[in-house]
Amino acid sequence: MRALVFEKQGTENLKVAEVEKPSPKEGEVLVRVKMSGVNPIDNMVINAIPGIKPMPHIPGTESAGVVEETGNDVTSVSKGDNVTVFGRYFDGTCDMCAHGMEMLCRKGYILGLLNNGSFAEYVTVDARNVVKIPSGLSWEMAASLPVAALTPYHAIKRSMLKSGEIALILGASGNTGQFALQFAKELGARTIAISRKQSLSDFGADETLPLANAAEKLGEITEGRMADFVMNSLGEKFWNESFSMLGVNGRMVAFGTLTGPQVNLDLSGLYSKHAALIGSTGGPLNEFKELVSKAANYKVKVWKKFKLEDGQEAIKALSSPERDGRVMLEIS
Ligand SMILES: NC(=O)c1ccc[n+]([C@@H]2O[C@H](COP(=O)([O-])OP(=O)(O)OC[C@H]3O[C@@H](n4cnc5c(N)ncnc54)[C@H](OP(=O)(O)O)[C@@H]3O)[C@@H](O)[C@H]2O)c1
Ligand SMILES: [Zn+2]
Repeated sequence: MRALVFEKQGTENLKVAEVEKPSPKEGEVLVRVKMSGVNPIDNMVINAIPGIKPMPHIPGTESAGVVEETGNDVTSVSKGDNVTVFGRYFDGTCDMCAHGMEMLCRKGYILGLLNNGSFAEYVTVDARNVVKIPSGLSWEMAASLPVAALTPYHAIKRSMLKSGEIALILGASGNTGQFALQFAKELGARTIAISRKQSLSDFGADETLPLANAAEKLGEITEGRMADFVMNSLGEKFWNESFSMLGVNGRMVAFGTLTGPQVNLDLSGLYSKHAALIGSTGGPLNEFKELVSKAANYKVKVWKKFKLEDGQEAIKALSSPERDGRVMLEIS
């Protein structure tokens, strides 16, 4: 099969190669990949994270496709089923799995880090990782559910955002941002997008503010209340500004650090606001299934779709200043 492979880290080392097609072991399925989402984690796998295995390595953490073959004992799906792939390996036996927190499995890992990922014509995954998609769902949406959608879905649930609250979403036109806006709106929150884009009203933003002087503008439009919920996946560069936009009893959630992980925290600001800082990562399988069942209610904006041959371009496109929407690999 054809796959995007690197033998040494570096986007410049990514190339399309003919590699052996995997076959599903007991309990596994072979998925013919239709579409893969390209995410910052793929860039990190290709360029930065140490200990990636196996080598040569096929990256790719987010995908959807068609079941091609099933291993022994697999009854949950059959050849020909259209599926989306829960993006974390989990063993199903540890205490975290038993408590429905598969993304924290003690033996778990993100797909495409310690096994070959989905930037390939075929990928094998555990049968419990695949979820059938509703008929008519686009491949772009199916391949956006595992990472771009599930992560803010869980982060928002975890932060207990409620109807009538003010939700502030940073990086709002990005992979996770565009879904966060939709989920916050669905819950009945007043949604404020922080973005370099003009308007994100298509995704449910009630207001779109540029980052410059955002705190002042937020103060004006909320009459000093500020935000009850802030999603800051951008990290370091925007920390002070985003913390200043958190109102009393506010919750700020972080699941990413796109501009760096180191921040200063004024603890007096934290307690005097009665605020909570929440870390979140991925989401559990039951929320993934819930999201798949509701996926037709949401939209995803795709900026560019690339073929496997253009894998290097796809990775570079993630950080293009012109980017407006998702970058996807259309594989078959
Ligand atoms: N832990 C997890 O499970 C998990 C899952 C998904 C993502 N993440 C992490 O979360 C972070 C965000 O992921 P993502 O996929 O949403 O990222 P993304 O789509 O690549 O970027 C997010 C958005 O942030 C804004 N942005 C990016 N760089 C910026 C900069 N230097 N200055 C100002 N604005 C900038 C842009 O939005 P505008 O143009 O609208 O301003 C961009 O579209 C990443 O660090 C990623 O690794 C973690
Ligand atoms: Zn486990």
